[in-house]
Amino acid sequence: MDKNLTNQEETASSMTLTTRQGHPVTDNQNIRSVGSRGPSTLENYHYLEKITHFDRERTPERVVHARGAGAHGIFEAYGKAGDEPVSKYTRAKLFQEAGKQTPVFVRFSTVIHGTHSPETLRDPRGFAVKFYTEDGNWDLVGNNLKIFFIRDPLKFPDMIHAFKPDPVTNVQDMERFFDFVSMSPEATHMITFLFSPWGIPANYRQMQGSGVNTYKWVNQNGEAVLVKYHWEPLKQGIKNLLQEEANRIQALNFNHATLDLYTAIEQGDYPEWELCVQIMSDGEHPKLDFDPLDPTKLWPTDKFPFLPVGKMTLNRNPKDYFIEVEQAAFGTGVLVDGLDFSDDKLLQGRTFSYSDTQRHRVGTNYLQLPVNAPKTQVATNQSGGQMQIYMDRAPGQNPHVNYEPSSMGGLHEATPAGGNHEPHYDAKLVHEPIERTNNFSQAGETYRSFEPWEKDELIANLVDAFQKCNSDIRDRMVGNLTEADSEYGHRVSEGLKHAGSSMTSGQTDPEQAVKLAQQEGHEAGP
Ligand code: HEM
Repeated sequence: MDKNLTNQEETASSMTLTTRQGHPVTDNQNIRSVGSRGPSTLENYHYLEKITHFDRERTPERVVHARGAGAHGIFEAYGKAGDEPVSKYTRAKLFQEAGKQTPVFVRFSTVIHGTHSPETLRDPRGFAVKFYTEDGNWDLVGNNLKIFFIRDPLKFPDMIHAFKPDPVTNVQDMERFFDFVSMSPEATHMITFLFSPWGIPANYRQMQGSGVNTYKWVNQNGEAVLVKYHWEPLKQGIKNLLQEEANRIQALNFNHATLDLYTAIEQGDYPEWELCVQIMSDGEHPKLDFDPLDPTKLWPTDKFPFLPVGKMTLNRNPKDYFIEVEQAAFGTGVLVDGLDFSDDKLLQGRTFSYSDTQRHRVGTNYLQLPVNAPKTQVATNQSGGQMQIYMDRAPGQNPHVNYEPSSMGGLHEATPAGGNHEPHYDAKLVHEPIERTNNFSQAGETYRSFEPWEKDELIANLVDAFQKCNSDIRDRMVGNLTEADSEYGHRVSEGLKHAGSSMTSGQTDPEQAVKLAQQEGHEAGP
């Protein structure tokens, strides 16, 4: 709209409400009816268009990570990975020159509950970044925590079913949660983080991010290294909440993290993160007591230091939440030249799942929406499907040629930008877990690395959760925690013996909430 309009009539006409067919609307308060008391008629075109569009306003929410907030920003490369030129490891163009800027869009999220659920819940936080690079898009779809619950993608739907609300009561249930976790010992490390204060970040700005899975970087000669990605908050630092603090915040505002991000950006207080990588040579590393492809493990930083490669600043809020945030679609398959997959099975399982769900959730042509489309030329020969907006065509392309190969002015293949990375495989096709599962030792190390107050909070939170579980599940959990660290198991077991009477005020008690609401309501009536 022209902000300098002075003529009242011109202003009035440019502000006229119309239908989607462009017809001016002369009455938006009263439907057309036979007399003022009705009945109404079926040719109410404006009403029917308005209500049928409203009826379809929601697309399905994400099956996980439904609650989120997003922002636009810039990634600036350092040109180096630590002290080495980054080109030693990867030829990905976005990292090469110091100061090179790439636009990004980031969506932060919680995982388990629905679109408008509280942002104070104990849950991993999603940290998904879309880089609009000159070679097309790269999505780094990570979480705040550096590890994950499971290592095989076949277990993901069961895990999510156990963590989401019960199919009968529609209420999340710690007994179902820990039924699954106690029988999936590889989750011991993740729940050690999740039930500590690290399980409730104070907001989205003051948390870390991590790609979690192992990827590869490929250099000009086609040589690969294994790589893990981590986002470290810069000036805003890291902050987590105790359960009691989260309870208090939730009572005041259950959207605090979205509001925090939006307000900081509106006020020019732009959050910043440094992107660091950990690098390992490509191989099995049999001397390590864990498998480098196992997403339930940290790579020790004394052996594999964090190497800074660039910095991200979020500096622009979306103009429309639905268009830019709700319809944003990230996936682990979205890589650019110089970045590659590793054989991490969880990563490979994820890569199928994301674009599959997005074709369902957003639609066949979800990649034509502005937030998802790359900022480079797209020329695919793919066309059709619901809501196609334009043809993916090159400017000089013969419009009759939507196939390849062709000698008549169609699209052709690109030449590889460097040597191909071609891993060799010689093994039987099997259903087997990895050999070095080592499910407990890093969980123990993580427990021992916590400060005393973090340990206290972890024990209290687990005792609280286990009180809602049957004795079979409790025993299995105490067994797993004891395998991780005998003090850890012992403290939880002792806590359970003395629990019941000694529930601290900071802990959650869903049944107590039901009773309170019954007792504290004020009678009302006609
Ligand atoms: C979202 C699948 C593991 C991070 C999603 C979605 C699916 C999915 C179907 C919804 C996507 C959409 O509707 O656009 C899986 C599967 C996994 C897995 C099958 C394991 C086999 C992980 C892990 C991480 C992660 C390990 C962290 C590194 C995320 C994030 C989102 C997400 C951040 C939200 C993206 C957004 O903001 O739109 N996942 N996921 N997921 N997942 Fe996963």
